[in-house]
Amino acid sequence: MMLTMNKEKKSIKTICAQADHPPKDPYGSHAMPIYQTSTFGFKDVEQGRRFFAQEEGGATHSYSRLGNPTVQQAEKTIAALESVDLDLETEGMLFGSGRAAITTGMMALAAGKRILAQEALYGCTSQFLQEEAGRYNIKVTNVDPNDLSAVEAALEKYDDIALVYLENIANPTMRVCDIEAISDMAHDAGAWLMVDNTFATPYHMRPLNWGADLVAHSTTKYLNGHGTVVGGALVASKKFIGETAMHTYRKNFGGISGPFDAWLTMMGLKTFPLRMRQHNENGQKVADYLNSHPKIRRIWYTGLENHPDKKIIDRLMINGYGGMIAFELEGGLQAGIEMLNRLKLATLAVSLGTVDTLIQHPASMTHSVVKPEIRMEAGITDGLVRLSVGIESADDIIADLEQALG
Ligand SMILES: Cc1ncc(COP(=O)(O)O)c(C=O)c1O
Repeated sequence: MMLTMNKEKKSIKTICAQADHPPKDPYGSHAMPIYQTSTFGFKDVEQGRRFFAQEEGGATHSYSRLGNPTVQQAEKTIAALESVDLDLETEGMLFGSGRAAITTGMMALAAGKRILAQEALYGCTSQFLQEEAGRYNIKVTNVDPNDLSAVEAALEKYDDIALVYLENIANPTMRVCDIEAISDMAHDAGAWLMVDNTFATPYHMRPLNWGADLVAHSTTKYLNGHGTVVGGALVASKKFIGETAMHTYRKNFGGISGPFDAWLTMMGLKTFPLRMRQHNENGQKVADYLNSHPKIRRIWYTGLENHPDKKIIDRLMINGYGGMIAFELEGGLQAGIEMLNRLKLATLAVSLGTVDTLIQHPASMTHSVVKPEIRMEAGITDGLVRLSVGIESADDIIADLEQALG
């Protein structure tokens, strides 16, 4: 199901380069100021009353847990990126972390109901669904979204599914599923579709184009890109945000971003398309190198012909394939550990999407909170290594991998 496309919108290059242009500033500031304030003064009681009653003539802001001009500027850009092709009025909401964004979305959409969730997910999202959601009266059923008949069967079996939750590209398995088909199935069954777009980013994939209702991000990653912020975002149509009372959930759970983090995110967004072009170029070079290396047993990269979801990738992804790679070594876990310990240029660290190369071992790090049997079922083997290729010289990144692989 393709939504109405809009060819009139500005390109993402323009949206990003001007991400910090304030709508109006009393001093004519060219860059968006950081409104580092908790509260905003009202002119008189009537103006304050009108704000809280959401009537015309109210103040624009009241208290930074509800909204803040600097935060809103970053939200506007992220919403524009996710809907750049569409004739759809969207709204972005910024959070203090990706996890805060995701949990707020899930609580708003599925409290008292069931979530049909992908098996392979970021570790803490997985832990929340498997171990904690039940305590908040949310039931969870796992499904492999690359098995469309299993998705359909689950939607038929349970009549209380309010939300289908996916990561596309999935962390760390790099699998890509057909969100267009799944959004149709979810909607036919009366459920919403929420997609975590952290790995692909709107540079490479735009879930709203394919029928997703709500897009989530860890802005900690590519959107900020500098590794200076922990943040998150939700993007949906203005109508969806309004009808699901998403602002009320954010206000009352209290997960909004602080103004300085929003400003740092905005600084990163200014160069987002340029950075992504380089991540993509380097990602392809490094993946090609690893793919032909005799010590690599298996590699998952969305830009390789041998990716299991190649056909879906060709349909859903644009502008290349990004910088995320997963691989296993011939020598398994022990060989992986030895290689990681020998790296000099790449930093051994969790997180991803920063301008510099990061590498980590999901089973002992990001996904260690996931029960081993769920990890295995989701394809997160003990020998899997996850590489976030940075924008350094691709030759230097490859030389480092070469010496570490030995
Ligand atoms: C795909 C994905 N979603 C969500 C998160 C959580 O984001 P944050 O660490 O900003 O809370 C992560 C973190 O690594 C992630 O990789």
